[in-house]
Amino acid sequence: MTGERKKMGIDPYERRWMIVSIALLVAFAATVGIAGFAMGFDLPGQDERVDPQTVATTPPWDEPGVREISPGVYEAYVIAQAWSFSPREIVVPKGAEVTIYVTSIDLQHGFKITDTNVNMQVVPGEVSRLRYTFDELGEFPYLCTEYCGRGHAAMFGQVRVVSQEDYEASQAEAAAADAGTEEGQ
Ligand code: CUA
Repeated sequence: MTGERKKMGIDPYERRWMIVSIALLVAFAATVGIAGFAMGFDLPGQDERVDPQTVATTPPWDEPGVREISPGVYEAYVIAQAWSFSPREIVVPKGAEVTIYVTSIDLQHGFKITDTNVNMQVVPGEVSRLRYTFDELGEFPYLCTEYCGRGHAAMFGQVRVVSQEDYEASQAEAAAADAGTEEGQ
């Protein structure tokens, strides 16, 4: 019975299931698309190549750390090496949208910020990039997720998210300290 039907074409029942599965695939693709674009998830990007030998002395990598590039928008440059991250601390105000760039000057490392979706591989010669908005106050440790030798567990640092007032106060303090150094010269 079934054999005869198959010879004549697709079973109507089977056909219905094919339509359902295609509809499901379209729905899944749409979900991923919406999550990716509308909700602002950012896939790890590897958009730039650098020379691991010279990157640490090449701007902006020669001064690792975070800077404000426009109001509320920051970029952070992090250098990974066995067995530390430079800088060890990134301080931003609550609500900061931070694009994080990480590269390694030696081995392959990982960079994951606890309690966020920031998690990327760090490969010598490549720049890994991820954007994240820090909407909660607190300390968010970052650590190496790729086993890289005996100091692996010691590779960590933290993002500290502070209130706008505390952030401005700390910036003013840093500026005053800089001015003090210059006066002393
Ligand atoms: Cu670097 Cu593990």
